[in-house]
Amino acid sequence: MAKIFIETPRLILREIISEDLDRIFLLDSDPDVMKYIGVKPVKTIEESVETIKKIQKQYQENGIARWAVVEKESNLLIGWSGLKLLTVPINGFKNVYELGYRFLPEFWGKGYATESGKAVLEYGFNEMNLDTIYACVDIENFNSDKILKDKLGFEAKGTFIDPLDDATCNWYELEKEKFKIK
Ligand SMILES: CC(C)(COP(=O)(O)OP(=O)(O)OC[C@H]1O[C@@H](n2cnc3c(N)ncnc32)[C@H](O)[C@@H]1OP(=O)(O)O)[C@@H](O)C(=O)NCCC(=O)NCCS
Repeated sequence: MAKIFIETPRLILREIISEDLDRIFLLDSDPDVMKYIGVKPVKTIEESVETIKKIQKQYQENGIARWAVVEKESNLLIGWSGLKLLTVPINGFKNVYELGYRFLPEFWGKGYATESGKAVLEYGFNEMNLDTIYACVDIENFNSDKILKDKLGFEAKGTFIDPLDDATCNWYELEKEKFKIK
């Protein structure tokens, strides 16, 4: 049984397990999902096997990594959301926690990134007692940019170039004191 970390009104956030392979492949092979991520969509199921192994290694080594998001209504894995410990520097930041999320297109526009994001932030600030949580987004990824800034309350702290694909990205920070659950 996969460990459940959070339940929100419409979602369950739980650890990613090997049985999620087909859904993770569906997600990471979708060109629309991967448009602003900095890496190309995966082509083979073996790549997703490796992705799941990598995430499970992060659970073991760092205590946390991205979580599967399951829609209660359909009982389907619809994407992932969660905190990642940056062990390789991004924008010069290392050993800090970064919020990320990714959903299958048929589940966009329902408020799930916001609902899961708020729950993850609450967990990070209240359960993990973090002072600051970080996020970054391609400046052309307007949907995600809006969520971070307008819905989750992140503050823009300038731009940087993502070496993965040379894209210009916004760097965001949210301090615990400034995070308020409505
Ligand atoms: C970016 C991405 C995560 C956005 O996901 P999402 O679930 O559509 O985002 P939200 O949760 O904020 O919902 C967006 C819309 O749903 C609306 N919505 C519908 N029902 C809602 C509800 N019950 N509660 C809240 N919002 C709701 C919101 O108002 C919002 O519309 P608006 O932008 O016009 O205000 C998604 O497009 C995605 O997975 N993209 C590919 C991967 C990616 O780019 N990840 C981010 C990398 S930084």
